[in-house]
Amino acid sequence: MKALVLAGGAGSRLRPITHTSAKQLVPVANKPVLFYGLEAIRDAGIREVGIVVGDTAAEIQRAVGDGEAFGLEITYLRQDAPRGLAHAVLIAREFLGDDDFVMYLGDNFIVGGISELVDHFREERAAGGGPRAQIMLTRVSDPRSFGVAELDGTGRVVGLEEKPDHPKSDLALVGVYLFSPAVHEGVARLKPSWRNELEITDAIQWLIDQGHRVDSTVISGYWKDTGNVTDMLEVNRLVLESVEPSVEGEVDGASELIGRVVVEAGARVVGSRVVGPVIVGAGTLVRDSYVGPFTSIDRDCAIVDSEIEYSIVLRGASIDGVGRIEVSLIGREAQVTPAPRVPKAHRLVLGDHSAVQISK
Ligand code: DAU
Repeated sequence: MKALVLAGGAGSRLRPITHTSAKQLVPVANKPVLFYGLEAIRDAGIREVGIVVGDTAAEIQRAVGDGEAFGLEITYLRQDAPRGLAHAVLIAREFLGDDDFVMYLGDNFIVGGISELVDHFREERAAGGGPRAQIMLTRVSDPRSFGVAELDGTGRVVGLEEKPDHPKSDLALVGVYLFSPAVHEGVARLKPSWRNELEITDAIQWLIDQGHRVDSTVISGYWKDTGNVTDMLEVNRLVLESVEPSVEGEVDGASELIGRVVVEAGARVVGSRVVGPVIVGAGTLVRDSYVGPFTSIDRDCAIVDSEIEYSIVLRGASIDGVGRIEVSLIGREAQVTPAPRVPKAHRLVLGDHSAVQISK
């Protein structure tokens, strides 16, 4: 069994963060979301992993390397443009050969990993006559931004639609799929959809239409597509809830740490109150500040004379003298500073698609 991890794509929903970096590398508890997926694949006993990369190939390769650090053998597969999930399978044809494989969307986060699902598929396939594909589903309140499955009374998948205006159920496709090599024939026959992509849902529909068995599992565990800021913050909260507290950096006598707090080596907490769960990355300074629950501060940041809670701060950002920040994702090397007391005009340097709130 092999794994195909999709880490190409454009990431428009996390703009402007992903104008400059891959959305799969945005950190959750200071670790890129993609790494959690690679670890889950390794824990499921898979070694050979193909990673589909696009414009951000160099950055992904720098972060993941040859896979040795994860106990994986990684092959990078270059996709010229995000032409769809099934297009990624198409370009991986040679790498995948005639093996069964798990396809994992690099921006998805699945609590509890995928070992059970992979084991189950392996056993069914080994027994002969098993399913040709298996999909994972979860109930969502608004299925219109997902692939949506329709099941018959016995739980068999009878139809799939990608991002439908009028969903036939509330069962959304989770970004982990198990395939036998039978899927390649369906992929090879696909025509681009209305959004000009080769849709994996159409390839699965083809398997169903050929009378092949496609199984589904409805998972109730935790799953998030980390494509938007709200979901990123929620995943961050969840992961921080189970971090092991540890203090390897410096915390001065005037500071107070409460609850699950990680202060990485080389970080400094001075005259501040940190209420966990919180992680303070290596080389970061927190001075005369309050850092509240569910906050991840990456490496080499400065939080000075400020308050921050339920937020993610990326590498090298500084927040200085600004009062309170909540529910925010602060990009790399961003600088947040106070405006003059009664500003005549605001001076802004904002990335495309930024969202800012300014008091009147
Ligand atoms: O998250 C689950 C959803 O993922 C499913 O419910 C949908 O059926 C499925 O189409 C997918 O929808 P998204 O709109 O979230 O897909 P997105 O474009 O964000 O791509 C998912 C990942 O795959 C992301 O890490 C980028 C990567 N990708 C995407 C495309 C279209 C590629 O590597 N190549 C591509 O061509």
